[in-house]
Amino acid sequence: MLSKFRRIVVVVLLLSCAVLNAQNRAKTVDAGGHAWWQHAVFYEVYPRSFADSNNDGVGDMNGIASKLDYLKDLGVDAIWITPCFPSPQVDFGYDVSNYEDIDPMYGTLADFENLAREAKKRGIHIILDFVPNHTSDQHPWFVDSKSSRTSAHRDWYIWRDGKVPGQPPNNWTSTFGGSAWKFDPATNQYYYHYFYAQQPDLNWRNPAVEKTMFDITRWWYKRGVSGFRLDAVDILFEDPNLKDNPVTGGRNAYGDAYQEHKYNTKLPEVHQALRGLRKVADEYNAVLIGETWTKDIAELNLYYGKGNNELQLPMDFLFTTVNKLSPAEFRKQIAAINSASGWPTFVISNHDIARSYDRYGDGQHNDDIAKLMASLYLTLRGTPILYYGEELGMKTTVPTRREDVKDPIGRSGWPKEKGRDGERTPMQWDESVNAGFSKTTPWLPVPPSAKTHNVADESKDPNSILSFYKKLLKLRHTNKELLDGNYLPLNQSDQKVLSYLRVYQDQAVLVALNMSGTPQRVNFELKRNGFASARALAATGKSSSQGDFVTLDPYGVFIGQLER
Ligand code: GLC
Repeated sequence: MLSKFRRIVVVVLLLSCAVLNAQNRAKTVDAGGHAWWQHAVFYEVYPRSFADSNNDGVGDMNGIASKLDYLKDLGVDAIWITPCFPSPQVDFGYDVSNYEDIDPMYGTLADFENLAREAKKRGIHIILDFVPNHTSDQHPWFVDSKSSRTSAHRDWYIWRDGKVPGQPPNNWTSTFGGSAWKFDPATNQYYYHYFYAQQPDLNWRNPAVEKTMFDITRWWYKRGVSGFRLDAVDILFEDPNLKDNPVTGGRNAYGDAYQEHKYNTKLPEVHQALRGLRKVADEYNAVLIGETWTKDIAELNLYYGKGNNELQLPMDFLFTTVNKLSPAEFRKQIAAINSASGWPTFVISNHDIARSYDRYGDGQHNDDIAKLMASLYLTLRGTPILYYGEELGMKTTVPTRREDVKDPIGRSGWPKEKGRDGERTPMQWDESVNAGFSKTTPWLPVPPSAKTHNVADESKDPNSILSFYKKLLKLRHTNKELLDGNYLPLNQSDQKVLSYLRVYQDQAVLVALNMSGTPQRVNFELKRNGFASARALAATGKSSSQGDFVTLDPYGVFIGQLER
């Protein structure tokens, strides 16, 4: 089974070197030709929910700063902080009213600078969340834009006459429900908003908008930011003729007819904007991560750009669509991302997606399954982005009553759409009141599972999910095969065990993941392929290797160095 792999290694290695060289447009690369973000482990912090230093129930900059040692110890190299700029918080920060400051709820610019300094001391990069598609309706640009048809900022947003009096310009619906157009009686026109009405879309066809947005990224780079996660980049441009979208049948949670977002998403002009943002990023050796919802790898490739001149790390959300423990499905997805034209990025949950703990958990072996999933996305070739609390096995806690919901879409879409509060609950630091997140009642409730799944307790338990994450992340930083090795799938028809090699030069690491609830024993024919044994690097429960065989507990993991 391993017989072909040595021949393949030489060819794949040469190829991958060429690809890597092309990718590394940034000036600073390591001896192996990698840019810093290729070997870095990223960690998403939802600032409202991470750590509350002033005990007002909402997390803040100083809270994050106080947890940097924890993050360093975990093995994190970069934190992506979701929007922390001044905002009316209709969409919890994704409605920005000033791009060049920190929301007082989270602290001051000085607090941010302190965080950046402290992070730098520990070798942790700061990535901010840039929201280029829309602003808050309270942003002074929009306030001016709305003030009259001839205002200086009128053309910074998308204003149109109704189709006929009393009717919006076309049939486009907001992804958060209702028409994507809001009528403004003062100037007798409609403005366009893909998200909430309080989030008017900027007009990227206006060169002044483009220049201003590029300059904002520069402003933050100068303050020590190492890159951005770019919010909602698929939708920066709209068809100038505002053609109606095709209606596809059925209705969503808000009661709107489903439509194909043909004329308001993924327009080719998006790529010109991304090339511009990348040019600025390259001046600072920064990284751009994209919120890129794509239907296949061909579409994802467009976001890397020709010769990798757009996003270095467009997120592969297709991976998150494999919502069951299916070796076949994951094999397919991993093969696809390995064929992409750029460096892969792996995400298994975030602030918009139910936590992986519940998506994959069977209710009985959830902790084992959490370790299994960690072993998957942390041993693949590419950059992983952890979501806060994933390393603890935090669960999704969906509100049970509509009146408790904070996320507006959870109220308008109730009961079909309960919003995203469930995946945004406070970080679980210890067993104390409010899980040590705050001394005041937090903005979202702490689930009872905080008593068992928290940093303090899991740090002391060598078998905890947290201890396993730490072990894996340590391996990722030191093992050349896991960092740079090629991915080579094994036993491709196995329905229960997903297994692969990571091969670097003449060394290989074997990863075997039992995605079933029954014990498995797999023959890897190590001897026939010139290896004496597989030395355990990490394993769960009693999973182990003897001679040619690897024995796996239900949902067990074995990661081993092949030795001659
Ligand atoms: C992105 C964010 C999401 C937000 C939306 C509007 O999808 O991840 O949380 O609601 O953009 O800005």
